[in-house]
Amino acid sequence: MPSLVLLGAQWGDEGKGKITDLLSRDYDYVARYQGGNNAGHTVIVGDKKFQLHLIPSGVIHENVTPVIGNGCVLDLKVLIEEIDRVEAEGVSCERLIISSNAHLIMPYHRDLDAAHERRLGENLIGTTRRGIGPAYQDKISRMGLRMQDLFDRSIFKQKVSAALIEKNDILSKVYDLPTYTMEQIAEEYLVYAERLKPYIKDTGPMLNDALDAQDWVLFEGAQGTLLDIDHGTYPFVTSSSPTAGGAPVGTGIGPTRIDRVLGVAKAYITRVGSGPFPTELFDADGDKFIDVGHEYGTTTGRRRRAGWYDAVIAKYAVQVNGLTDLCITKLDVLSAFPTIKICVAYEHLGQTYTTVPGHQSAFHSAIPVYEEMPGWNVDITHCRSFEELPVEAQNYIHRLEELAGVPVTMIAVGPEREQTIFNGFVTRD
Ligand code: IMP
Repeated sequence: MPSLVLLGAQWGDEGKGKITDLLSRDYDYVARYQGGNNAGHTVIVGDKKFQLHLIPSGVIHENVTPVIGNGCVLDLKVLIEEIDRVEAEGVSCERLIISSNAHLIMPYHRDLDAAHERRLGENLIGTTRRGIGPAYQDKISRMGLRMQDLFDRSIFKQKVSAALIEKNDILSKVYDLPTYTMEQIAEEYLVYAERLKPYIKDTGPMLNDALDAQDWVLFEGAQGTLLDIDHGTYPFVTSSSPTAGGAPVGTGIGPTRIDRVLGVAKAYITRVGSGPFPTELFDADGDKFIDVGHEYGTTTGRRRRAGWYDAVIAKYAVQVNGLTDLCITKLDVLSAFPTIKICVAYEHLGQTYTTVPGHQSAFHSAIPVYEEMPGWNVDITHCRSFEELPVEAQNYIHRLEELAGVPVTMIAVGPEREQTIFNGFVTRD
């Protein structure tokens, strides 16, 4: 299996970082294909905890070449700080490769993200305010700056000047905010350019060559299926395509080169930011998910919203991404519950839905229909094989497989690398 897309099957924060890190030992390349420093992965190795926002989780493995693909947006200051932080922990970033076509997050993108959210008031999207949306907006409207622009000073200055004509007007006249000069931005960014020059490459041909050579390539998605700009709960989404289709577009390979697609889903669900969430809990069970699962954002520290596992969403994720495998994470958190609920359908205005309703108003007001299963109430963090799990936990996993229509080939029972059960997932050996 030379190529795998690994992505979030819910609203992000499914624990993809740990799984990518674990699988990375088998891979030659780990490539991010979308998003920016709105993502946050925590990888725990022994007594070291790495919080990664931009650099692919595979960086920690010496066998891996980490790649930031053309579909990503980069805040260069954050990227350089992250490289320095990771290197200070003794992990070399020398192998890191960044696409020359990746777009830049500019200072005005950050300002506009925050200003737009403030203006939306109580209708806000709840973005990470990292400038992600405005950077992708400029990419699509062909006003963006790419990594390669940094290496032609005159082009860079021309493009910044052109962008500032509009941005300064919006900043000052719409939002009453300070403006920027081209010289100010050039001074800052051209220093970053010197620092980042050794990492820049045309990554598309490189990844194609790697696949031709039968190298193993893992395409790492950030955020999750329901945050996809096309297939998520628009407008409460991110501005890129975390779904599997985003992987070829965001790295420059053809879709036929993907062999397997692994969807990572928590044994319950969380989301940060606004938007519909049918199984969201506002009771003691919800608080328990937050407390036991330590559900606070890696990037913003925000308390997440939490609810029971939603099999309707899982089925949707299987379809939209063409999932071949599911990985269920944080199964150990369910040990705290005497009985466990799974949402198997929704009801809305007298109609029952077993798939995600086509109209978002119905999804917004959908009432979950639950199936209840007995819990296991014992610690499972030491289990290393499916057979070691209590029978109730095995039955729960079997039921999720039945509802999703794909096998659960990996199960995480704790935050450490070794607290993972391989249940048929194809590895290199
Ligand atoms: P943005 O990506 O900062 O524009 O935020 C858009 C939406 O995506 C908001 O609801 C964010 O909370 C959510 N979001 C962005 N990145 C992540 C992530 O890595 N995990 C979970 N939610 C995210």
